[in-house]
Amino acid sequence: MYSIFAAGITLFSIVQRTTAQEVTTDSVSDAFTQARVVPDVLRSFEPQGVLEVVFTDPSTSNQIRVTPGMNLTPAQTANRPNFGVSGLPPSFAPQSFVLAFIDPDAPTPSNRTLAQVRHLLGGDFALEGQLNETTPLLANKSEAITEYLGPGPPPGSGPHRYVVLLFNQNTTPNQTFPSVSASFANSTTPRIGFNVTRFAEETGLTGPVAGTFFFVAPEGASSSSSSSASGASTASTATTPRSVSTTSPSTPTNSLAPATGSNAATSNMGVSLVALMLAVTPLIFL
Ligand SMILES: *[C@@H]1O[C@H](CO)[C@@H](O)[C@H](O)[C@H]1NC(C)=O
Ligand SMILES: *[C@@H]1O[C@H](CO)[C@@H](O)[C@H](O)[C@H]1NC(C)=O
Ligand SMILES: *[C@@H]1O[C@H](CO)[C@@H](O)[C@H](O)[C@H]1NC(C)=O
Ligand SMILES: *[C@@H]1O[C@H](CO)[C@@H](O)[C@H](O)[C@H]1NC(C)=O
Ligand SMILES: *[C@@H]1O[C@H](CO)[C@@H](O)[C@H](O)[C@H]1NC(C)=O
Ligand SMILES: *[C@@H]1O[C@H](CO)[C@@H](O)[C@H](O)[C@H]1NC(C)=O
Repeated sequence: MYSIFAAGITLFSIVQRTTAQEVTTDSVSDAFTQARVVPDVLRSFEPQGVLEVVFTDPSTSNQIRVTPGMNLTPAQTANRPNFGVSGLPPSFAPQSFVLAFIDPDAPTPSNRTLAQVRHLLGGDFALEGQLNETTPLLANKSEAITEYLGPGPPPGSGPHRYVVLLFNQNTTPNQTFPSVSASFANSTTPRIGFNVTRFAEETGLTGPVAGTFFFVAPEGASSSSSSSASGASTASTATTPRSVSTTSPSTPTNSLAPATGSNAATSNMGVSLVALMLAVTPLIFL
């Protein structure tokens, strides 16, 4: 009797583990609806492949594979991730793609007046090489329109959704995406107040053909047990909150706060840069 019970528990936990890892186009689509990414960001979403976003935790060098709706910390997402996509029909193989990584919850989920915020926007991604043995890597062939900015929701905010979408680019072989995007989003376009649906319409994108999302809570408010003291000293530079100025939308390169300019900041600098940012009033965290 006991052994049957134990076997049941074991089987149950194996099934749990397996299903927890398995991401399908259906499970992604369900997760988007459950978290209201549809309709907040997209009118509808019918993924044709599974988008993989893989972060490298700066304090442990561990790879973190994003599954839809998972909780991550600002530290874990500080560095630009790698992207891959699996399961797309073969007809997609020769095509180029646009990646958009946005925050629809800025400055907070209950006040979205600054949304959407672009955390990365780039085109001319192609399936090239491998993310791992089974998943093709998405490699880019042109400069990002908006370079990666790690999540940094403001203190006191609820967790933000960070949504990563892969679109078909639909350009001719001689066209690069920055030339198509130029009049709609370019290096001087503020990160805030973006609308990825409108942008896709303006630039002739189709899809999204794949996507994922995750949550990040403000530094210190994390529900994750990984934000323990052990990683604090090494993580402190990477966890400096990211912010964007709202005052000078015409300033080139999206007006990153000085604190975010260098990844080589020492931990001492981290503290003084936070103080500096607090002194500069119009800065907001995204
Ligand atoms: C919403 O956020 C904006 C930008 O930070 C702020 O100016 C505004 O006062 C906020 N509105 C409310 C109702 O909190
Ligand atoms: C593509 O790669 C180059 C160099 O590796 C980088 O500077 C550029 O910003 C990248 N584009 C995107 C969209 O990440
Ligand atoms: C490769 O990546 C996919 C998606 O991230 C994952 O499902 C699969 O288990 C990985 N395979 C190996 C051998 O790591
Ligand atoms: C692309 O560029 C090449 C060389 O510049 C040219 O020969 C070709 O006709 C162009 N193709 C299209 C579709 O414009
Ligand atoms: C850059 O994008 C803005 C829209 O954000 C647009 O008004 C401006 O004309 C664009 N600049 C160029 C050089 O196309
Ligand atoms: C984004 O643009 C689309 C298409 O123009 C529009 O239907 C939608 O309401 C806009 N979304 C937001 C949040 O403004």
